Amino acid sequence: MKNIYLIVSIIIMFVLNTRGQNKLNLQVDEAKTKINKEIYGHFAEHLGHCIYGGIFVGENSNIPNERGFRTDVINALKEMQIPLLRWPGGCFADTYHWKDGIGSREKRPSIVNIHWGGVTEDNSFGTHEFLDFCELIDAEPYININVGSGTVQEASEWVEYVTSGNESPMTQLRKENGREDPWEVKYWGIGNENWGCGGNMTPEYYSDLYNRFATYCGGAKYKIAGGPNVADYNWMRVVMQKVASRPWLVQGVSLHNYSFAHNWDNKGDATGFAEDEWFSNLKDVHRMSGLIKQHTAIMDQYDQERRIGLIVDEWGNWFQVEKGTNPGFLYQQNTIRDALAASINLNIFNNHAERVKMANIAQMVNVLQSVILTKGDKMVLTPTYYIFKMYGVHQDAMLIPSHLKTEDYEYKGEKIPAINASASIKEGVVNITLSNASANKDVILEIDVNGKEVKTATGQIITSKNINDYNDFDKPEAVSLSEYKVAKPEKGKLTVTIPAHSVLLVQLK
Ligand code: AHR
Repeated sequence: MKNIYLIVSIIIMFVLNTRGQNKLNLQVDEAKTKINKEIYGHFAEHLGHCIYGGIFVGENSNIPNERGFRTDVINALKEMQIPLLRWPGGCFADTYHWKDGIGSREKRPSIVNIHWGGVTEDNSFGTHEFLDFCELIDAEPYININVGSGTVQEASEWVEYVTSGNESPMTQLRKENGREDPWEVKYWGIGNENWGCGGNMTPEYYSDLYNRFATYCGGAKYKIAGGPNVADYNWMRVVMQKVASRPWLVQGVSLHNYSFAHNWDNKGDATGFAEDEWFSNLKDVHRMSGLIKQHTAIMDQYDQERRIGLIVDEWGNWFQVEKGTNPGFLYQQNTIRDALAASINLNIFNNHAERVKMANIAQMVNVLQSVILTKGDKMVLTPTYYIFKMYGVHQDAMLIPSHLKTEDYEYKGEKIPAINASASIKEGVVNITLSNASANKDVILEIDVNGKEVKTATGQIITSKNINDYNDFDKPEAVSLSEYKVAKPEKGKLTVTIPAHSVLLVQLK
């Protein structure tokens, strides 16, 4: 009898303890900021097997392909809804001379890829191939110009070659290479990481160079200045001071931020980790929110109307390379931890959609936090792939202002928020994406929906048995997307259980 009392009081205490602790308040009728679909952008660099082997195998390959591009990868990307793709780098961009990659493939010169493994790059994937691939996957192209080792003339001729409808030597050359009409390429990055691999410049020197390059790249409608590394607020301040005063020359400033199991010098393994590295990685992922707030505050001083976009064109988890692989190829596996990391980052971008106009996860195939891994003719979709598929509902939807009250996930005296969330509305459907970072504890969340009468509620979930589960070539569906039952809301309120280490999409109609 005594035992029964004990059990009942533990249950009552548990219920009292968890009820009402976690609340998400949504103001549906105050949705007024668009979540640009470009926030769901990707990045493909000439690095390891991202381009060669991952995307492009050539027309003569035994791997099924369309004009040399892998058919399986094309189909998977279309299914995921990829809105935008950045190319050719990364650090590679500031070594890339675009004229090496046009014309007959047999005649294209080779170069050495100095940043990534010192391998020989035969330039068989160049401007035409990239833009052709973007057309095949229905993605907008975003081209990154070489500032570090390139010239203003080279940059301005590239923009002309791609975008101009005029009669000129560059458009003539394009036509000779088989493309009559110009392509529509809106987004152009001017330099990459020019504080580091893109020339080790000071922000003052880079900003002056930026103004020169941008002046002569008039055909580039949306020009993106190379912004800071992580928390380099001085870089952001100087670039905004020197560049933002000429609004016609700049539409965006980039930000790069990667997350690790510990830090840059101790990246940790992509798989086989225990709860300590699960926690420390997700804690590091949360850094993104503070960075965006601080950089936005600086940008606001020079651009109060928030006309200039914060372009997070490199983000994601960066771990040690898989054992036995080339250290210069940055090949890593991808677990449910990466799904959580992607979910937290994407929720943060959505919630800052007023300033964050684009984001590009690094990188699309076979490099860092990829959505797709390939091995020969095999392909596997990672947990991060399923996050992008699930979050597709937010593309070009209206952000719903929300207020989240969440319990903490505590580990050895440190804590992070257990729940992370964002919400949007599109075509009358409210989409709420939620993640529970806790390794072992389910959480209960009350959602208050103000401003919409809800008739039905449906759900989807991404989760797995263990915190370090991943999809592999012989076990491709260990982590995937499935239906999740959600109770019908009553009087505008909905109670949802978010299982430990999982991500949910709740849709209200
Ligand atoms: O994504 C890998 C590398 O990380 C990129 O080339 C560079 O821009 C960044 O340092």
